[in-house]
Parts: sequence; structure tokens; C-alpha cells
Amino acid sequence: MVRLSNNLLGILNVVVFVLSIPIFIAGVWLANQASSECEKFLDKPMIVLGVFLMAVSLAGIIGACCRVSCLLWLYLCVMFILILLIFCFTVFAFVVTNKGAGEAVSGRGYKEYKLGDYSHWLQKRVESGKNWDRIRSCVQESKVCQKLANKGDSVQQFFRQNLSPLQSGCCKPPTECNLQYVNATYWSGKISPGSADNQDCKEWNNDPSVLCYNCNSCKAGILASIKDDWKKVAIVNVVFLVFLVIVYSIGCCAFRNNRNDNYYMKR
Ligand SMILES: *[C@@H]1O[C@H](CO)[C@@H](O)[C@H](O)[C@H]1NC(C)=O
Repeated sequence: MVRLSNNLLGILNVVVFVLSIPIFIAGVWLANQASSECEKFLDKPMIVLGVFLMAVSLAGIIGACCRVSCLLWLYLCVMFILILLIFCFTVFAFVVTNKGAGEAVSGRGYKEYKLGDYSHWLQKRVESGKNWDRIRSCVQESKVCQKLANKGDSVQQFFRQNLSPLQSGCCKPPTECNLQYVNATYWSGKISPGSADNQDCKEWNNDPSVLCYNCNSCKAGILASIKDDWKKVAIVNVVFLVFLVIVYSIGCCAFRNNRNDNYYMKR
């Protein structure tokens, strides 16, 4: 008798196994190649994910095709935990990224970002010194501000354009500081007294290695882009979750088949 669920489970796991190889290779490559702090950020999770997927899919392949019930049982347990974890992470990602948005500035094409607008959990992540040092060096290495300055926009062009959250938060002083535009990363004039309570105005420096990298607006800009990324990840996760639940259900059928087969073989 053809066991459709066993075959299907075997094929799906071969697909997962094949997908896990490039993830693993990319992780190892990053660990050896990456010179920048930003890229190093991802290498370990990628290696762990690659090895994890390989092991799980191998257990699924052997369990389904060779009818090894205990392996299949282990596979189903791990899958169940994985589904729970991804579900929790997805809900968490939606909750955490629910709060916070850029604020429109009158007469400007770009928005500005305030740290206080974002969820406390996200704020905590960028407030700690060590974390922030790493993220800041990452932003500096990416040269977003340098590229913005090299465009050589006139004042009108600069004020009209739509800056990314990073550019708006990290490369220029907040509008309320009332500084005069010379180029994107050079602003002249005295900080207006009315904005004295905005710490960011004091943090601003025309030195290309300082700019507004220590500003709260820069942290908020990072959170704004993380928030967008997480929203996308959360949506992809929902699709992935549906896929996993289907695989899990097929796995349950295969497990039942194995048990029935063993039962008939024993008779
Ligand atoms: C911006 O202006 C400052 C001061 O005039 C100048 O030193 C700097 O080279 C300029 N930067 C760019 C990218 O043009």
C-alpha cells in the first residue's frame, strides 16, 4: 500500500534539507569573511539555524522513509516546539512593532523620529551602551551619511526629499535646533535657545565621525527601520507557520502509518 503521507513528508524534508545547506554555508562564509560589525551580527544564528534544519529534516527523511517511529516521534516533538516558538515570536514581533512612527515636519519632505514613540522593549535594546556602540559603528561603516552628503543637494532639494529613517535621525540635526544647512552633514549657526531641552541639539557635531550618531533621533531612526523589517519578517513568519502546520499534520499521519505498519507486521 502506498503511504502518501510518508512519501510527501520525505519529499518536503528533502526540500528543507537542500534549503538548509546554503544557509549553513552562508553562515560559515560570513563568520570567516565579514570584516564589518554589521555582517558579523548574523553569522552565528545562521550557522545554528542551518545545522538545526539539517538535523531536523534528516530525522524527518529517515523517520518517514525508513519507517523509524522513534525518530519520527522526535521529529514531531521538535516541530511542535518550533511551531510554538515561531508563533510566540510572531505575536511578539507584531506587539513590539505596533507602536511608533515618524513625525512629519512642516516644510520638509522627510520625517523625524523620536525615541520615546517606540515600545519600551525596543527602547531598552538601543539604550544599553554596548549594544548601541555596536549598532553605531555599523551605521558609520555603512556610510549612509557620507553618501547623502556627496549628493551635494541644494537647500531646497535637501528639504524636499524623503530621507530614510537612518538618514533623518543620524546624519542631520533635528529641525528644532534651527541650524542652517550648508550641506547634508554640515550645519552652521547657533542652536536656538528654545531647543535647549532637546539633548540631540547638543549631541550634534559637524565632525563626520560624530554627526548625530549619539542622538536619540538616531536610535529612533534605527528602531524605525528595524520596525519595518520586523513587520516583514512577521508576515513571512505567518506564511512559514502555515507551511509548518501542514508539514506537521502530514508528519502526524506518517507517524500513525508507521505505528499501524508495525502493528500489522507483528501479527
Ligand atoms: C560640507 O561642507 C563643509 C564646510 O563647507 C566641507 O568642509 C565639507 O567637505 C562638505 N562636505 C561635502 C560632502 O561636500
